[in-house]
Amino acid sequence: MKPHIRFDGASGALILLDQRRLPASKEYFYCRDTRDLIYAIQEMVVRGAPALGVAAAFGCVLAARETAAGFSNPREGAEALDALLDALAAARPTAVNLRRMIERMRWVRLDRDPPGFAELIALWEAESERIHKEDLEVNRRIGAHGAELLDSGDVVLTYCNAGELATAGFGTALGVIYEARGQGKDIRVIACETRPLLQGARLTAYELHRNGVPVTLACDNACALLMRRGLVSKVLTGADRIAADGDTANKIGTYGIALAAQAHGIPFYIAAPLSTVDLSTPAGDDIPLEERPESEVTHFGSRRICPEGVGAFNFAFDVTQAALISGIVTEAGVLFPPYGQSLARAVERG
Ligand code: MRU
Repeated sequence: MKPHIRFDGASGALILLDQRRLPASKEYFYCRDTRDLIYAIQEMVVRGAPALGVAAAFGCVLAARETAAGFSNPREGAEALDALLDALAAARPTAVNLRRMIERMRWVRLDRDPPGFAELIALWEAESERIHKEDLEVNRRIGAHGAELLDSGDVVLTYCNAGELATAGFGTALGVIYEARGQGKDIRVIACETRPLLQGARLTAYELHRNGVPVTLACDNACALLMRRGLVSKVLTGADRIAADGDTANKIGTYGIALAAQAHGIPFYIAAPLSTVDLSTPAGDDIPLEERPESEVTHFGSRRICPEGVGAFNFAFDVTQAALISGIVTEAGVLFPPYGQSLARAVERG
């Protein structure tokens, strides 16, 4: 698949594969300024924690280009530029990669103190391309470490989408599966549909199927039964933020799957880059959980599926307690409890 996030320096546009339209059609969404990108992030044109980080890095280039139109140098335009970066960082609150990559871009600016916008834009474009490339390399390392946890014959249940489309490419949880299969292991996958936006049905099943991985779709509420029937050997998901103690935010529904996995003695693994680990968030209860419009739950497409006047909960994420997580696969290796120590050590080394 060609990169689903790409920056065209000549036109100054960030080009995103529109994930809302998959798998029915392949359309591209052009972001010409930060407003376009904030819209794209909030409307889920681009989603998945690492992909949001990469898109946000390119978004800093858009912000610099916009600011350049009104100010003669970055020092004069500092306040306006910071306001755009702050707005971008707040576009979605749970996935820490979004904020983290913008912080990294700010540091590049402070480090070099560029004299003009042309220099700042060139510096940030190069840094964004580096972030893009690094994420892909990190995913390959996650895949290599995680593949050691999988045995031939395993049926892996996954949730939401932690694949190519959620990252710069290859994927975290799905990267582990691609790598294990590349090593010749017979791995099959159960993809949960992932209500309400169906990232599992639309994106994970799409990716796996086109990459030749045997995949079966399941309703989210079938997970416990499938485990009870011995149809699941391991659970593997991605993460949006991992707190210092190992508590992990991921797509709403992950927590219930982890509880069911524990009840059935099935290992539950998370695969995520160290950029998703947030040591400044002490525990899961401190992670801000995004709440999205009720209409995503009350409607199926444009059709209302519940009576007029009935509202809905729409938390986009939940938190799985560290005690339910058998291991966290990172580019630095597989981390095991106590996560307070293993995460801190891995981040420090990383
Ligand atoms: O709301 P989304 O689609 O951005 O949620 C994505 C997830 O929950 C993924 O599992 C997570 O970001 C990991 S992506 C490698």
